[in-house]
Amino acid sequence: MQKIAQLQLPSGQLLALRTFTEEDFDEVHEYATDPLVYRYAEWGPNTEAQTREFIAQAMAQQEDSISCAVVLDDQVIGAAAVWSTDATVPAGELGYGLNSKYWGRGYATAVAGLLVELGFTTLGIHRLTATCAPANAASARVLQKNGFKLEGRLRDHKRVRGEFRDSLLFSRLRTDPPPSAEAQA
Ligand SMILES: CC(C)(COP(=O)(O)OP(=O)(O)OC[C@H]1O[C@@H](n2cnc3c(N)ncnc32)[C@H](O)[C@@H]1OP(=O)(O)O)[C@@H](O)C(=O)NCCC(=O)NCCS
Repeated sequence: MQKIAQLQLPSGQLLALRTFTEEDFDEVHEYATDPLVYRYAEWGPNTEAQTREFIAQAMAQQEDSISCAVVLDDQVIGAAAVWSTDATVPAGELGYGLNSKYWGRGYATAVAGLLVELGFTTLGIHRLTATCAPANAASARVLQKNGFKLEGRLRDHKRVRGEFRDSLLFSRLRTDPPPSAEAQA
């Protein structure tokens, strides 16, 4: 297991990103079968085989992507990733999801901040994008607090359990100023 990034929270807790291991199965499967977590996602509810496949894929690190477990004081509470989508720009995308027991405490905002840093530095990305369902106000807020700008609405962008849904498209450029106190308030 490899530690990728970490942050000491004001509460004193340690929020870390590290590579997945097969031993993470129970914690991953708990949130991957929670309707609150997969509600807007193309995946879910996961079978045990799908959770094992997810962990195996995340463990097979690629050169142009970082896929990691979100760990709070040694407890796996979610997953996060940032990956290259176009080497020419260079552009990339990020995503995250947390066990619903840990929502509303600023963890995803902190995780997205770490992913932005990894995308701009480790992966050398210039244009980072993220999408979320228009109804996913918490995710839109996480992106806004991390300095992402809303670019528009992608029609029928995803197919979620047979139903098309739109997405909001957000971006942040490496040359953008850091998020203002106003965006974070
Ligand atoms: C999106 C998600 C990661 C947010 O995690 P989180 O740890 O609760 O996020 P944070 O606590 O850092 O911040 C959430 C922000 O959204 C706000 N928020 C939450 N629910 C909201 C709602 N229904 N309407 C408006 N704002 C909302 C919170 O108030 C907070 O903003 P604030 O700090 O200004 O008060 C979590 O809900 C999740 O895992 N969802 C399922 C997977 C998912 O949707 N992933 C994103 C795919 S694009």
